[in-house]
Amino acid sequence: MNARVGFWQHSAETYCESVSLTRIAEEIGTPVYVYSAAQLERNCRSLTAAFSAYPTLPCFAVKANSNPVLLKRIFEAGFGADVVSGGELRIALAAGARADQIVFSGVGKLESEIQLALQSKILSFHVESAEELDRLAALAQRGATVAPISFRINPNIDPKTDPKITTALYETKFGIPEPEARGLVEKVLRNPYLKLVGLSCHLGSQITDRDVFGEAAARMSQLAQEVMALGAKLSFLDLGGGVGVSYRGEKTIALEDYARTLLGPLRKTGLKLLIEPGRVVAATTGALLTRVIGRKRTPAKQFVIVDAGMNDLLRPALYGAFHRIEPVATREMPPEKVDVVGPICETTDCFAADRELPMLTAGDLVLIRDAGAYGFSMASTYNSRPLPAEVLVDGSSFRIIRASAPLV
Ligand code: LLP
Repeated sequence: MNARVGFWQHSAETYCESVSLTRIAEEIGTPVYVYSAAQLERNCRSLTAAFSAYPTLPCFAVKANSNPVLLKRIFEAGFGADVVSGGELRIALAAGARADQIVFSGVGKLESEIQLALQSKILSFHVESAEELDRLAALAQRGATVAPISFRINPNIDPKTDPKITTALYETKFGIPEPEARGLVEKVLRNPYLKLVGLSCHLGSQITDRDVFGEAAARMSQLAQEVMALGAKLSFLDLGGGVGVSYRGEKTIALEDYARTLLGPLRKTGLKLLIEPGRVVAATTGALLTRVIGRKRTPAKQFVIVDAGMNDLLRPALYGAFHRIEPVATREMPPEKVDVVGPICETTDCFAADRELPMLTAGDLVLIRDAGAYGFSMASTYNSRPLPAEVLVDGSSFRIIRASAPLV
């Protein structure tokens, strides 16, 4: 069998690279997250290649997928890390991220987290309020050190995505409004415990409109020039993450276009570019493999009940997100309209409503695609269910990269 990347059909069965998913389900059990090493490598490489013409540091958004084995590969591919908690900082460092390539965002950084990041000598604290700036300065002074900071700007730009994953409007809790940030520059320049090293913004997630990034790049580049004119010696501009992937065949932004859109305005500043991609690196890399427990019919619906639940993959329940659902073995199966649901005692525990699928019956394996980002990382033990196992496929071999552990 030729070397394959990701998930594909071969003689009426779905494979991940050269390994049959039936084999993984039999040996490991279900539900299980399956990742393709080759897909991860390809995604990392495509992104790096798109920005190869300009000094760029992609900082992987660890919240999208924090499996240490996957992180190690991402850092080996030359990525830094975007972290939002002390836990993520620790995981990133343990997985081999360089401290001077880590940025720390988040509206509610704890004192202990700030101290850990100061001691670790990270690249930048992305400061999200004037109050946080004071807290950070006081902690840096107490530790007799200098905190490298960037203002995380809230540019009040509508990223035209789901409101639940929009972060750049004044209605959201994120970032410092641009006018307010301008007024804070002098204060930072006067404080010997703070060093303004960059500016950052993050618009939202699953963005499919290129112009949104264009507007942010232009506004942030302009602001960076103003801030530098005030005497700040910036070294980077961080334009965040947010590039969308195609969950249901929708049109997305080609990485080359994304790079062109950001770099156009940015070149004038001469600053290094940072980006914080999460989804675009991890989503297509993984899928959730689950088995049909059984069927159930009501006067209104035909349900297919699978052994994965919203605790394993929350996106459909939380955002109404669409994920492709495919039977692993293809045989003659008449199509029918069903709701694919999990065993959790919540009505919202539903992976797909009124979806036309080949007829699935007890024992069938089912693949929920594009679950490598915000899949396992948002999993919980709700209903006292163990977290699902994670498996990495690399060519013709596979191994558990995180085991499912019983709760008692
Ligand atoms: N940088 C910051 C500061 C962020 O808050 C995020 C995502 C990213 C980067 C990465 O964004 P990405 O490239 O992955 O779009 N749980 C939701 C997504 C929430 C994203 C939160 N922030 C989902 O499952 O769709």
